[in-house]
Amino acid sequence: MIIAVDGPAASGKGTIARALAQHFGLPHLDTGLLYRAVALRVMDEELDPAREADVVAMCDFDDRLLADPRLRGDDVGKTASIVSAHPLVRAALLQRQRRFAQQPGGAVLDGRDIGTVIAPEAEVKLFVKATPTIRAQRRHAELRKGGANVSLDRVLADIRARDDRDARRSDAPMRQAADAALLDTSFLSIDAAVQKAVAMVEAAKARGGAPASTR
Ligand code: CDP
Ligand code: CDP
Repeated sequence: MIIAVDGPAASGKGTIARALAQHFGLPHLDTGLLYRAVALRVMDEELDPAREADVVAMCDFDDRLLADPRLRGDDVGKTASIVSAHPLVRAALLQRQRRFAQQPGGAVLDGRDIGTVIAPEAEVKLFVKATPTIRAQRRHAELRKGGANVSLDRVLADIRARDDRDARRSDAPMRQAADAALLDTSFLSIDAAVQKAVAMVEAAKARGGAPASTR
C-alpha cells in the first residue's frame, strides 16, 4: 500500500505521515527533506538558487545529509521552495522518490506532488490543509521554541510567499489530486488529526482503493 500525503507548509502533513507510517508499519519518506538538502548545499556553496544549472549539480548527495539538523531551518525551507521550481531539479530527485514509493510492502511519502506526480498510483491519497494564519501560528511557535526571535507577521508573509511559489510553478505544482481526500486540520488537535487520517486510510483499504470521500 502506498500512502501519499500532500499539503502546504505546517499543514500537519509530516506529523500525520509519520503517525500513519508507525500505525501501519510502513517506511516513511519526508520528500521535503530532499529539496531542503539541495537548498542547504546551494547555501553552503554560496550559489544562486535561481541558476538552474548550478543547482542541478547539487542534486546528487549522500542519504546521510538527510539527517542534518540544519535542514529544518526556515531559511533552508525558503531556498528549498526556490530550487524546487526548477524542472531539472525535480527530474533529478524523481527516481529516488519513485524507488522509495515502489518498494515491496508499500510506503508513506509526504510532500507537495506525491499524489499527482511521484505516486499517482497510490492506493490512498490525503491532501492536508489548514488556514494560512493557523499554519503561521504553528510555525511561529516552533521557531520560538527553537530560540528564533521572529514576528508572527513575518512568518505568515513567508508562508504565503512559499504557498504561492509552490502552487504557481509550472512543473509539478502543489495541488490536490482529483482522487485525494481533503483533511482540514485547522481546528483539530494533533491526536484528532491523526485519528481522522487513520480512519480515512482504513476506509480506503476496506474498499481497496481511494478514500471514501472521493467516491
Ligand atoms: O509537515 P508540515 O510542515 O505540513 O507540518 P508538521 O511539521 O507536521 O506540523 C507543523 C507544526 O504544527 C508542528 O509543530 C505540529 O506539532 C503542529 N500541528 C498542530 O499543532 N496541530 C495539528 N493538527 C498538526 C500539527
Ligand atoms: O515542512 P514544510 O512543509 O515547511 O516544507 P517541506 O515539506 O520541507 O518542503 C520545503 C520545500 O520543498 C517546499 O516549499 C516545496 O517548494 C519543496 N517541495 C516540493 O517542491 N515537492 C515536494 N514533494 C516536497 C517539497
